[in-house]
Formats: sequence, C-alpha cells, structure tokens
Amino acid sequence: MELAGRTAFVTGANRGLGRHLAQQLRDRGATVYAGARNPASIDLAGVTPIAVDVTDPESVAVAAATTSNVSILINNAGSSTKSSLLTGDLADVRLEMDTHFFGTLAMVRAFAPQLGGHTESAILNILSVLSWLSFPDIGAYCAAKSAEWSLTNALRQELADQGTRVSSLHVGYMDTDMARGVEAPKADPAVIARIALDGIATGQAEIVADEISGAVLAGLSGGVDGLYPQVASQRRGTAATLTEPAAALQPDRSDR
Ligand SMILES: NC(=O)c1ccc[n+]([C@@H]2O[C@H](COP(=O)([O-])OP(=O)(O)OC[C@H]3O[C@@H](n4cnc5c(N)ncnc54)[C@H](OP(=O)(O)O)[C@@H]3O)[C@@H](O)[C@H]2O)c1
Repeated sequence: MELAGRTAFVTGANRGLGRHLAQQLRDRGATVYAGARNPASIDLAGVTPIAVDVTDPESVAVAAATTSNVSILINNAGSSTKSSLLTGDLADVRLEMDTHFFGTLAMVRAFAPQLGGHTESAILNILSVLSWLSFPDIGAYCAAKSAEWSLTNALRQELADQGTRVSSLHVGYMDTDMARGVEAPKADPAVIARIALDGIATGQAEIVADEISGAVLAGLSGGVDGLYPQVASQRRGTAATLTEPAAALQPDRSDR
C-alpha cells in the first residue's frame, strides 16, 4: 500500500510512539489527523490535531464524524497502570481494558465505514510482546494487550471483505514515558515507527518489530511450561528459572 496521498488517523499522537508515527506518516506524504485527549498538546506542524479519548464513546463518535477520507487507522493510545490482577485497584484493571481493548474496538467500529469507502485500507493496532507473555506485577496491562491481540485476530477476518487489512505490531520496551524506570533494554520509538509503517506499506499482518518479540512468539509453541518454567519448577520444588526472553523483559521491580 502506497502511504503517500493517504489520510491517516493516529490515536495518542501527542507523545511517545504515536508522535513518531504521525510525524513519519506526514513525512511520507500522508494527510494526518493527530488524535489526542488534549489536542493543544500536539506540537507537530503539518498535521491536524483532533480531540479523542478512546475510552469515551461520545468523543470517538465525534472524532469519526468530524473527519473524512481516513484509509489508515492506527490504534496507538495506551495506558500503563502497573497493576497486579490479584492485588491491584480494580479501577486500574478496568482502565487497561477500557483503553486497550474497548478503546481500540470503539475506534475500529466508528471508523470502519470510512475505511470501507476505499478499495484498500489499513488498521494497525499497536500491541506488545506482552500480548504473548505475562508478568504478575503488570498483569492488568498484559491481559489487556492479550485481549487486544484476540480482538485484532477476529477483526482482521471480519474486515477482510471490505478490503481493510488489519495489522498488529509487537514490540518489547521502547524508550517512551510509558517505560520510564524500566531497566531492561529499550528500542528507539522512531525506529519502531519506521518498522510499523514499512509493515503497513508491505502488507504485513503481524509486524514483529524486535528480536525479543520474535523469541517470545517462537516460545508460544512450547506451551505454558515452556513459557513459564518457573511455575513448573515451583510445583516440583526445584530452583525457579525464567526463560531467557522473560528474564530480559522483566520490568525493574524497584519502579513499582
Ligand atoms: N513503551 C513501551 O515500552 C511499549 C512497549 C510495547 C507496546 N507499547 C504500546 O505502544 C503504544 C504507545 O505507547 P508509548 O510507549 O508511546 O506510551 P506513552 O508515551 O505513555 O504515550 C501514551 C499515549 O497514549 C495516549 N492515551 C492514553 N490513554 C488515552 C485515551 N484514553 N485516549 C486517547 N489517548 C490516550 C496518551 O495521551 P496523554 O498524553 O493524554 O496521556 C499518550 O499520547 C501503547 O499502545 C503501548 O501499550 C509500549
């Protein structure tokens, strides 16, 4: 898909990965709606700031009604409450689902008619390596990213008939506000944005943006005991060890 000349909508475009996506789409010749809860926080020239809170159905409906010709939708907005499913505040657990799952779904439902008005259109959902691997201390985020992965897989089938290709991006930590305090290695979000847009342009269904995401994806075939050997070790009363990618991805506990 040629990106130049397209009209794109990016949620959470005021900072982090979303800002890079909006900037690079603009630089590749697309017309860009830069969605943000506070549109005044959009500091990019040459894009159209637009208010959108993905957890607010009315705000999503207004954003869809006040835009036109969108043929690329990037669901990038994300929250990170660092909540355990067992002991975290349930309001935080719900916020993760509201943002990543229901927020993405609301955007897709609202924009599907606009996307369907084009012979060829695209949705990119910004997922994570944590769609595939969970850590208890951030279990709410991981569960929401897994739910968003499942949503993506259902919608890519449902939207194929109208010519809308649905892609997912999986990535480990990136150097943005969200991962501030994480001590594990972090990717440059500008590089990940480039990989994401190349993925849309070349029609990749699943964009695996870094090595660690590829390693975890490969590990899914090993089942639960392969992904979480420490649980099996505990059962057997032997020393607990994490897999290599899980050890590398473990967020810094002192941050929470
Ligand atoms: N950073 C990582 O390590 C990492 C790794 C894998 C995947 N991801 C995913 O990458 C995406 C971008 O994250 P990031 O790293 O760029 O994080 P970030 O710097 O914290 O930015 C998050 C963005 O999402 C927006 N947002 C949050 N809730 C929203 C809502 N209800 N409605 C609309 N916008 C909302 C924020 O807007 P405000 O400025 O208004 O808060 C901000 O623009 C997220 O989906 C995240 O889950 C991040």
